Amino acid sequence: MVHRDSPDHARCVQAMFDRIARRYVLMNSLMTLGRDRAWRRMVVEKAALPPGGSLLDVAIGTGDIALEALRHDESIQAIGADFSQGMMRTGRARPGGDRIYWVGADAYHLPFPDASFDAVVSGFLVRNVDDVAAVFREQVRVVRPGGRVVCLDAAPPKRSLLYPFIMFHFRVIIPLLGRLIAGDASAYTYLPDSIQSFKTPEQLAAIMREAGLVDVDYRRLMFGTMALHVGTRPEE
Ligand SMILES: C[S@@+](CC[C@H](N)C(=O)[O-])C[C@H]1O[C@@H](n2cnc3c(N)ncnc32)[C@H](O)[C@@H]1O
Repeated sequence: MVHRDSPDHARCVQAMFDRIARRYVLMNSLMTLGRDRAWRRMVVEKAALPPGGSLLDVAIGTGDIALEALRHDESIQAIGADFSQGMMRTGRARPGGDRIYWVGADAYHLPFPDASFDAVVSGFLVRNVDDVAAVFREQVRVVRPGGRVVCLDAAPPKRSLLYPFIMFHFRVIIPLLGRLIAGDASAYTYLPDSIQSFKTPEQLAAIMREAGLVDVDYRRLMFGTMALHVGTRPEE
């Protein structure tokens, strides 16, 4: 199992995604009962790209958000960055994958000049990094003034009547699917662990503001187990 406080955390995360890359898309659909596509569509809408605009998908993985953005408007330019070559290789082979520019990069040090993009998005990245604020500061640096930064990630579930069912899904169903479909129960034990120990949507919004974004807003999805955040880099 990969622990957030391990000194090798980033290397373990990278290796884990390389391992599960081939079954990643299918696992997402099964775990979210097919809802993940609708959330990614919301990410694209919140990014508010102008026609022909440029989109950076940080931690692009197998490309779902960038592919959704190209489906929404084929005139955009989609660039994806990720440190897992395995995930990007799988993504590049998908239909439409050749329309994306795939860049091997660490989310802490994006290899792009300041203000390069009309919007920067990430899906399921920030839960995997130790310094969430630094990762957002880097996204603020590369988005143009007035451009949006959008973040989709899981959120720790609140105590409610549904809580026991949600925990059953996290603790039993997801690791079981991980073992049967991805052949990797440990990666899918890490997933619920990382969700439960992650920041609340309120805390994440505060970090985004501290990173320099304004008009930060969020909405909870899927019984509060997901959150979609959006903020804007202020005009200079
Ligand atoms: C759960 S996947 C999400 C992929 C995609 N964004 C999606 O919505 O399906 C997380 C991705 O984040 C990448 N990742 C995690 N930490 C990273 C970092 N520090 N720099 C670059 N990529 C990172 C992993 O390699 C993996 O592809």
